[in-house]
Amino acid sequence: MLKLRSFETSDIKELHRWSNDSRSILMVGRTPLTYEQVLQEVEGKRRNNDLLLGIENEEQQLVGWVFLKDIDHGHGRASIGILLAPEARGKGYGKVAMEQMIDVGFKQLRLNKIYLTTRGTNEQAIGLYQKIGFTVEGQLRQHAYVDGQYLDTYFMGILASEWSTKE
Ligand SMILES: CC(C)(COP(=O)(O)OP(=O)(O)OC[C@H]1O[C@@H](n2cnc3c(N)ncnc32)[C@H](O)[C@@H]1OP(=O)(O)O)[C@@H](O)C(=O)NCCC(=O)NCCS
Repeated sequence: MLKLRSFETSDIKELHRWSNDSRSILMVGRTPLTYEQVLQEVEGKRRNNDLLLGIENEEQQLVGWVFLKDIDHGHGRASIGILLAPEARGKGYGKVAMEQMIDVGFKQLRLNKIYLTTRGTNEQAIGLYQKIGFTVEGQLRQHAYVDGQYLDTYFMGILASEWSTKE
């Protein structure tokens, strides 16, 4: 059983390692990052009152993080993001951790909508999000520049009403 717990400052070293994996750079980032840059990213998210949670597997090992950012209580919406350790991918952790975080967003923070953006080339992530119940709401043409080419960005969202009637 996966567990979400608070993401601590001592976890940033691991986040730095995951962020510099080549697939992470291709799918999420742009270039390799220093520890200081990753630290600043976390501090920026904390200042923004984003909800940052660490993902722990059955052996209490930290295998990734998941976060709700740009939480807007006025509109009842937030954006979700996830990054797993390279060795923890492809084991179904992403689905369980996303579902747990979506539950927090809808049932604890009383959000109405959770959305995300992802690169059009990230078939694994898009497949996962569709499986969870996200809908593609828009395709932003040539919105990202990665590895020498412009890529489309997918905007996807799920509503509280869709989540509560899932299953
Ligand atoms: C994207 C990520 C969160 C997915 O989590 P994961 O635990 O590795 O996900 P899984 O490989 O178990 O896949 C979950 C589902 O996605 C779908 N999927 C996986 N690979 C796919 C592919 N190549 N094409 C289409 N769908 C795919 C499947 O439906 C799968 O469910 P199933 O195994 O029950 O059939 C994780 O791999 C990761 O952190 N990647 C690097 C960072 C990243 O890309 N983050 C997202 C940025 S938007």
